[in-house]
Amino acid sequence: MDDVLARLRGVEEEALSRLESAGTAAEIDALEREVLGNASAIGAAKRGLRDLPEEQRREVGRGINDIAARLGACLAARRASVAAGEEAERLQRERLDLTLPGRGTRPGAAHLVMQVFEEVTDIFVALGYTVADGPEAETAFYNFDALNTPPAHPARLESDTLYVEHGPDPEGVLLRTQTSPVQVRYMEQHRPPVYIVSPGRVFRRDTMDATHTPVFHQIEGLAVDTDVTFADLKGTLAHFAREFFGPEQQVRFLPHFFPFTEPSAEMHTTCFACNGAGCRVCGGSGWIELLGCGMVDPNVFQAVGYDPTAVSGFAFGVGLDRLAMIRYGVPELRYFFDPDLRVLEQFR
Ligand code: DAH
Repeated sequence: MDDVLARLRGVEEEALSRLESAGTAAEIDALEREVLGNASAIGAAKRGLRDLPEEQRREVGRGINDIAARLGACLAARRASVAAGEEAERLQRERLDLTLPGRGTRPGAAHLVMQVFEEVTDIFVALGYTVADGPEAETAFYNFDALNTPPAHPARLESDTLYVEHGPDPEGVLLRTQTSPVQVRYMEQHRPPVYIVSPGRVFRRDTMDATHTPVFHQIEGLAVDTDVTFADLKGTLAHFAREFFGPEQQVRFLPHFFPFTEPSAEMHTTCFACNGAGCRVCGGSGWIELLGCGMVDPNVFQAVGYDPTAVSGFAFGVGLDRLAMIRYGVPELRYFFDPDLRVLEQFR
């Protein structure tokens, strides 16, 4: 039965030459199935062994096994060399030059106004105040009416306020002109005692100049309890000024008017630039206006359902952009809205 082995050697030769041109593991796998699998000539020859006479069976069987073993070894060797080639190619493709210099990252920093925003909030949180929040699009009720600011008040003029088209009343919804409406919203939801600050963005219909921008930032404060007096207001706000500007800071209170406080005052502080001697920054007076404040008007308590004979309180509102300008000597409010990194990078 030498012709069986001769035929298989022919199969082997052909398979070896095809193996040489097989370039991928998949091609090699397919070839292996074809030449060594059940349906292959070798498979058929193995099955045919049992029909051979006893004395030929051993010899032909060994011959078939030798061919199959040689083929198997060649397939394995080819598979290994193809895999090595693929690996080398992958390494080349994914080559990384670890000696290249890095690109470097430039860490960002909070905007100066946001730094002041956090710092002032922290001063009051350290005194036990809670941070409260309110919407930037506000109703006229919260922004004006509930704050004792009736419809004829000049602050409600269209020339001062940005109204939002929403609902039937053309002047019903607006971009809040102050953070004070948060006082009302908070008192509506909470019983006294109340100690809150509320930092946030406010909006006015102002044309941009050195000291005006249509968007700016305030922090509102409100303390309501039994027996809160003007002395508490003064002590608290003087403490704030010294924490923010330094322990030497002097403050003074001048009478003023706000619809939602009675009496009302402006707090001034000694000029940071001349320490009170009088200079260009403070216009020669030695003082700089810092914030508005006062004792909460009984009408505001009534609007939120508090009994004005049972509680008293003080409130204040500080311009945060203004605080930043004063402390860092920034000459123009506009710089805060300038995307020029040379401005921002000074305050990392
Ligand atoms: N809301 C005032 C403003 O924007 C600032 C202010 C003054 C707030 C007195 C107060 C206050 O809470 O008591 O000009």
